[in-house]
Amino acid sequence: MPKRKTAVAAFALLAGGMLVTNASADAPTPGSGPAQAMPSPQEQARMKSYAPALRERIVRLSPETKAMLRQLDAQHPRKSESATMRQVMQEILADYLSMAAGVAADNAEQVADSGRRLANHRIPKGGLVAYLPPEKITDADLATLPAFNDAVEGGALKVAAAAEKGDMQTAAVLLGEVLTGCVGCHQRFRGVPGESPYLVTGAAARP
Ligand code: HEC
Repeated sequence: MPKRKTAVAAFALLAGGMLVTNASADAPTPGSGPAQAMPSPQEQARMKSYAPALRERIVRLSPETKAMLRQLDAQHPRKSESATMRQVMQEILADYLSMAAGVAADNAEQVADSGRRLANHRIPKGGLVAYLPPEKITDADLATLPAFNDAVEGGALKVAAAAEKGDMQTAAVLLGEVLTGCVGCHQRFRGVPGESPYLVTGAAARP
């Protein structure tokens, strides 16, 4: 696919999966059904910031996957201009640990505040897909995202609610389910963090 067309089609993903073939498409044709919004300047800037390898992967996704990605993105209004995915993940981990501390100390307020903060986490600069390995930008891999999102964010809100009811037993069980969501996503989209490229003998070098 020629570069320019790839970029335009990629912008179209951000506009909701519709296919825009040229710039004049930004004026809706009267009587052509619901007006199709052009991507916002922020969305265009995001797509421009992607390397061609990533853009091309995104363009190849199915319309369903593109719509799902947009929906996930819309559920997260806190977009960071500076934080990387690892930084966001460290914040999420801190919130998770604070939830566990609150459960252990029978502090419902701590559990509830931390759980809601976790559920309302920021999106790293460039968006989630910028941090996934390009070979994982496939319909099959990305189809798992909503389930992980529900397990982690929906789960954190359930933990908060259980704690506020004074039910720390249930909060403790649900906390485990949240962690299962973290682990599932890591197994699919991430390796072991911080592996050294200087350990030339690989697995054999481990104890
Ligand atoms: C949508 C999938 C997904 C979910 C859900 C998820 N993570 Fe992650 N996480 C990742 C990816 C991808 C990375 C690697 C990011 C990178 O290296 O750029 C990562 C990295 C991390 C890291 C390593 C950060 C570092 O400094 O290298 C920690 C810690 C972490 N996640 C904690 C969590 C916790 C705790 C949860 C659940 C409460 C969670 N994650 C849920 C995808 C996910």
